[in-house]
Order: sequence, then structure tokens, then C-alpha cells
Amino acid sequence: MSPLAALSQPFVPEALPSPRRHPPVAMPSLEWTPEVQAATAHLYDRVKTVIPPVEWPFFAPYVKAINELKRVRNAVILAHNYQTPEIYNCVADVVGDSFQLAREATKTDADVIVQCGVHFMAETSKILNPDKTVLIPDSRAGCSLATSITAADVRELRRRHPGVPVAVYVNTTAEVKAEADICLTSGNAVQVVESLESPEVMVLPDQYLAMWIASQTKVKIISWHGACEVHERFTAGELRAYREADPGIVILAHPECPPDVLAEADFTGSTAKLADYVKLRKPKKVVMVTECSMADNVMAEAPETEFVKPCNLCPHMKRITLPKILESLVHMRDEVIVDPAVAERARASVERMVNLKI
Ligand code: 13P
Ligand code: SF4
Repeated sequence: MSPLAALSQPFVPEALPSPRRHPPVAMPSLEWTPEVQAATAHLYDRVKTVIPPVEWPFFAPYVKAINELKRVRNAVILAHNYQTPEIYNCVADVVGDSFQLAREATKTDADVIVQCGVHFMAETSKILNPDKTVLIPDSRAGCSLATSITAADVRELRRRHPGVPVAVYVNTTAEVKAEADICLTSGNAVQVVESLESPEVMVLPDQYLAMWIASQTKVKIISWHGACEVHERFTAGELRAYREADPGIVILAHPECPPDVLAEADFTGSTAKLADYVKLRKPKKVVMVTECSMADNVMAEAPETEFVKPCNLCPHMKRITLPKILESLVHMRDEVIVDPAVAERARASVERMVNLKI
């Protein structure tokens, strides 16, 4: 074949076996019909407090089509707490914080995992399920923490701090996880650090999560300069203003926030722990100092609580939409591929975390 003829051939990368194993199916009809209305009425009930009736006819045909296609593909949808309410409540099979999603990824017997979250979460699912097809509806959904550190940085830190164990946040690439001794998430950070039984631990790459862990333990923490672009935007002044406006307000914050912000909070925890706080303690009025969709999702299950919503959106999480999830299941893309040698080493770090009895 001439070089020019070769260029006109469709490019099918060897690393994308999935469309061959699961041929594309026809795009389902996306009309709003009485049948669609009836089939999705029970799901609209879950989101009626956050999605106005006039918007539902745009979402419902996608919801029905995605739920039907999940059965055809034997697929499961794992959705992070920051996904929008129509994804979180109407098409997800499993919802949760990063730790819960990683744990559930080890349990599924579906052939296909569709990760509604950001790329490192999908990579974690692939690392734990090397034989399954893992899809992310938009592979550009990144994370400022995951891009803040490289595998070479971790090797250099090990050279500078010989013998100090390395715990990396799950918000990292597979290559970085492969260099670590163990992973941690905001839901288990302190317990993971203490499980290493070392006077010093490197906690990478989130400087603020590292500072928060240091405030909760006697272990000396060595950190990196990464930060979450969403949580570092909150300020202590903004939180004081909420408190001045209503001294009874309960302030809940994610540990990716800077320390002066956490100092104003009544409770700090992972996204799942913040949600549990509201569902169990039922505060009258709350502000969730974290990504914006969290409040919408918790609100749907806590109608008696009033929410003040500081709207800091994660632009990466918001790349995932119902139309992209449907496209993903129709065309089986974007498939997440991790180099098997890297995946094997990264898996050891993730499994050490998942298997800890905490
Ligand atoms: P959680 O593990 O608390 O869900 O946090 C993940 C994340 O990306 C927060 O920004
Ligand atoms: Fe990453 Fe921050 Fe977005 Fe979470 S909220 S995915 S840490 S950029």
C-alpha cells in the first residue's frame, strides 16, 4: 500500500480493542413521548426538587436510553458525588466518594464500567479490573491534582527522603500510583498514614490535604505543592460572612480546602462523610464547602435541610453529561487503557488501601 493510501485508511489503534469486542449499536430515539414519560416518572420523582418540570423532557429520553443500553452492554455506571443530579440519581448504579467508587470497582461482575467522574477515577477502575472494558464519557475530564505531580517527581522525592514511605492521593495518574507504597483518599487519609507505622510519611500531591492530615496525627508529614483548583478558591472570609449572616448555620468542608478555610468549618470530611453528616444529623441550615453539585445531590435526600450553595464548579467533572454517556455506550468510547506493567504496580498501591481493615 502506498504511504498516501495508508493515510486514507481509518486509523484503528491497537490499544482500542473495545469497539471490536462490542460493536456500535444504533443511536436510540431521543423523542419525548408519553411512553418515555411513563418509563421515567419514578426517576423524576428523585430529582423533582432540583430539576424543574420544564427541563425533564430534555433529560428523560437520555435517561431511558442509557438505562436500556446498560442492560444490552452488561454495563455498570459508577458516578462520583460531584456528578449532576440527573446522572447521580437517574442513571448511576453506584454513587460515592473516591474511596467508595474504588472499592465498588473491585466488586462488579459487569463486563463494562462507565466511569462518570474524572480520568484518575476511571484509571483506578481499570487498574482494579484489567480484564474489563472501562469507559469514560469524556477523556479530557482531568484534575489539577493529578497533573501536579509526575512519576519522576516521586522518584526524586524518594531520593531526597530515603526510607520514608510514600502515600499518594487517589487523585493521581497510574504512573504516580505505581511509584507509591499505598494510596489514600480523603475518606481514609489519617488511618492510611497511621497504618504505615512510620514516624514520617510523604503525602502527595495535595498540600492542603497533607496539612489537614498533619493536624490530625502525630506522624510527621512531608508534602508536595499540588492543589485542587476548585477547593483552593474558597476563602475564610466567605465562610465568616455565612456565619455572620446566620450564626446557626453548619459549615461542612472538604479537606482539599486551605487550612484557614477549614479552621472556620464545623466538620471536615470526604464528600461521602459530608453527605452522611447532613443525612444523619439533619441540620436546619448548612453550607457545603465543596463542589457545587454535591449540595444538589444531598438536597434531593434531605428535604428538611436548607442549603446555602457557594457555586464552585469542577470544570472537569462537568464534562460528563447524559448525551456523552449515551454516546459512550453506543460507540464504546473513550476506552481507558493503562500499560499493564504500570497497572500491576499501581494496583499494589490501590489494593493495599482497599484491603486495609479501617
Ligand atoms: P472525595 O474522595 O472526597 O470524593 O474527593 C474527590 C475529589 O476529587 C474531591 O475534589
Ligand atoms: Fe480534581 Fe478538584 Fe475537580 Fe476534585 S474538584 S476532580 S480534586 S479538580
